[in-house]
Amino acid sequence: MTTDKSLPGFESPAAGFDEPFEMLDACHDRLRRSLKLLERLQKYLESHAVDDQARQAALDVLRYFTVAAPLHHEDEERHVVPLLRQSGDGALAEASRQLMQDHEQIRLVWRTLEPLLRDVVRGESPAADRLADLARKFVRMNESHLEFERDRVFPQARALKGREGQQALAVMGQEMAQRRQVRHSNVGMNGAESGARLRPVRLLRS
Ligand SMILES: [Fe+2]
Ligand SMILES: [Fe+2]
Repeated sequence: MTTDKSLPGFESPAAGFDEPFEMLDACHDRLRRSLKLLERLQKYLESHAVDDQARQAALDVLRYFTVAAPLHHEDEERHVVPLLRQSGDGALAEASRQLMQDHEQIRLVWRTLEPLLRDVVRGESPAADRLADLARKFVRMNESHLEFERDRVFPQARALKGREGQQALAVMGQEMAQRRQVRHSNVGMNGAESGARLRPVRLLRS
């Protein structure tokens, strides 16, 4: 199976659009890497002024959370939440509500963290305490949400979707792919493009 590497959030070589749940798992791997990069950036800025490495790291984090992460949330809200809601299982219906509530809270915290990262991309140092507080809160919320989905959402949703058959899985994967093709051609980074030529990053990427 192959994956279109030009699409945001779909860079895993291990899964294709005909395996949408494997693609969702691959999105989680990328999310974990982006959270680690955010943590390293925040720690780096505790003892360094903003430099090209910090600007590049901030740009990478911004790209992930403004382009790929919203697509992933939409994947789950379009394809996973309805499965849980329509399952007739009270615990799964509750899990669907929890998922939507987590997404909303993650979006709210991101809106406060995003301007600080845009400051870094422009070469400006944000208030260190505020960046530390928001970055830690954002990482904690996402990690807890990843655990919740891993344990209480994905296995159940995968089983429910599997009962609908291979064709239903293919339709789900196609919708995910098509939405990325449309958005990818329209997406812009506003103030962040200015840092697009920054390379390479050494200290912050491991
Ligand atoms: Fe997720
Ligand atoms: Fe989610």
